[in-house]
Amino acid sequence: MTRGTVLLTGGAGYIGSHTAVELLGAGWDVVVVDDFSNSSPVALERVAQVATGPSAGHLRWHRLDIADTAGLTSVLADEAVDAVVHFAGLKAVGESVAQPLRYYTVNVAGSASLLRAMDATGVRRLVFSSSCTVYGDPERVPIDETAARGASNPYGRTKLVVEDMLMDLAAADDGWQLLALRYFNPVGAHASGRLGEDPEGIPNNLMPYIMQVAAGRHPFVRVFGDDYPTPDGTGIRDYIHVVDLALGHVAALESSDDLPGFTAVNLGTGRGSSVLEVIAAASRAVGRDVPYQVVERRPGDVAATWAEPALAEKLLGWRATRTLDEMAADHWRWQSRNPQGYAGEGAGPPTPPA
Ligand SMILES: NC(=O)c1ccc[n+]([C@@H]2O[C@H](COP(=O)([O-])OP(=O)(O)OC[C@H]3O[C@@H](n4cnc5c(N)ncnc54)[C@H](O)[C@@H]3O)[C@@H](O)[C@H]2O)c1
Repeated sequence: MTRGTVLLTGGAGYIGSHTAVELLGAGWDVVVVDDFSNSSPVALERVAQVATGPSAGHLRWHRLDIADTAGLTSVLADEAVDAVVHFAGLKAVGESVAQPLRYYTVNVAGSASLLRAMDATGVRRLVFSSSCTVYGDPERVPIDETAARGASNPYGRTKLVVEDMLMDLAAADDGWQLLALRYFNPVGAHASGRLGEDPEGIPNNLMPYIMQVAAGRHPFVRVFGDDYPTPDGTGIRDYIHVVDLALGHVAALESSDDLPGFTAVNLGTGRGSSVLEVIAAASRAVGRDVPYQVVERRPGDVAATWAEPALAEKLLGWRATRTLDEMAADHWRWQSRNPQGYAGEGAGPPTPPA
């Protein structure tokens, strides 16, 4: 007897694959839809290998673009889906500035397509991957969910529009249970070293970049500014272990019955770490100093952001427990065992189980 069936859009991606493991382990059946535009089916093969146990649920997947409303409608009906977690989307801020229409199409029109399919099949429980980017340049830290929203780039605006769409839907029909989880900065990897972030090209984010420097793929980490008003002068962010984040989704699904309408909840640790603290943690994980050089500030970067995570504890009974050292150690294990990410193994077309 499983907990139910949950559909993960984008479930082969970084956060989706870790969430799939935790949901399967908690006894949910998991159905993934992904077009594999930024992921590999190998990740799902590994999810199935890692998520074992006497009460583990079953994993199935379909190669599908979320723009395909009819395809999504069939999957929701045929798989008897109870709830959806919507990860699928594009997430690179710089790319969103250069290609805004692509971002609005995939992130906004794609979400509308999913919601139409859910409406048509009577599936009314959704957990949406939102982001702390919806707080723009925050007026105060820690940031709680009542803080003003605003975004400074097209990627952030797509998250705002989807949150607005969910609010409007909840206002029009009280049958929906719509939860927007505002992630802070996910890092780390599954402790098995089998799953992790597999960025294409040069990573935009700090931890994957540091790990590639440690692996010898770049000469040093560029630290963008050491004259911010923070204790060591470098920018401060709230880094959260991806497994803690994944467990936040399990808690969200198990609490969403008690949360009708629209609710937005931060998923962060409540602790900020500076760039130099992250480099130091990575150096401890790797066992030698990771080289860095301080360069000019990047335009648009804010000095310090971290989450007020109390609402997640109150509503979902969840809080992050993993430390920065665990994030770095797990990230390094993944990076050092999979220097080519998933590309080194089983590359080729996906083979969905029957
Ligand atoms: N990683 C972060 O730092 C972060 C922070 C805040 C919010 N988020 C949000 O969380 C979600 C997941 O992020 P991630 O880091 O796992 O990204 P990811 O790129 O690893 O995963 C996204 C997945 O969606 C799939 N996908 C993309 N477009 C699709 C489409 N049209 N149809 C079907 N599948 C599609 C990709 O192939 C990929 O597997 C995204 O919505 C992202 O905006 C991520």
